[in-house]
Amino acid sequence: MERTFLAIKPDGVQRGLVGEIIRRLEAKGFTLVGLKLMRVSKELAEKHYDVHRERPFFPGLVAFITSGPVVAMVWEGEGVVAAARKMIGATNPLTAEPGTIRGDFGISIGRNLIHGSDAIETAQREISLWFGNEELVPWQPASFPWLVES
Ligand code: RTP
Ligand code: MG
Repeated sequence: MERTFLAIKPDGVQRGLVGEIIRRLEAKGFTLVGLKLMRVSKELAEKHYDVHRERPFFPGLVAFITSGPVVAMVWEGEGVVAAARKMIGATNPLTAEPGTIRGDFGISIGRNLIHGSDAIETAQREISLWFGNEELVPWQPASFPWLVES
């Protein structure tokens, strides 16, 4: 089953949006299989955003991600990688569509509330970077037959 890595950034935690964000993903029908509140080390932040290492915003991005608690999550479901990106919205919250997390709650690209893996391979890399295998809990919600045609 497909999985994605999502992280509520320090601004999302500080603004009290943890419940709202989890609520949206639960209501959609995806399954939470990993969850932890953590302070991110500089090393982990730099590894996570390694593709942006040469970009001018990289130092500010790493400083921001390590500035306060982050909620790291793994969500499961058919098509969850692309669907979660859609629910998160465009990188810049000012241009993100209303109805998306960034579109509904943000105004600044450097404070865009949540990270989501951008492809299936990226998701696999990020899940193993952020979670040990023993921290992931496979389970099937009782609502599953009412969400997915067998
Ligand atoms: P993310 O990786 O956090 O889910 O965001 P994304 O895919 O929508 O955007 P990406 O291009 O991967 O950029 C990663 C994060 O870097 C910050 N950023 N700042 N100041 C800027 O021009 C700029 N561009 C990107 C954002 O916080 C973005 O989420
Ligand atoms: Mg990205």
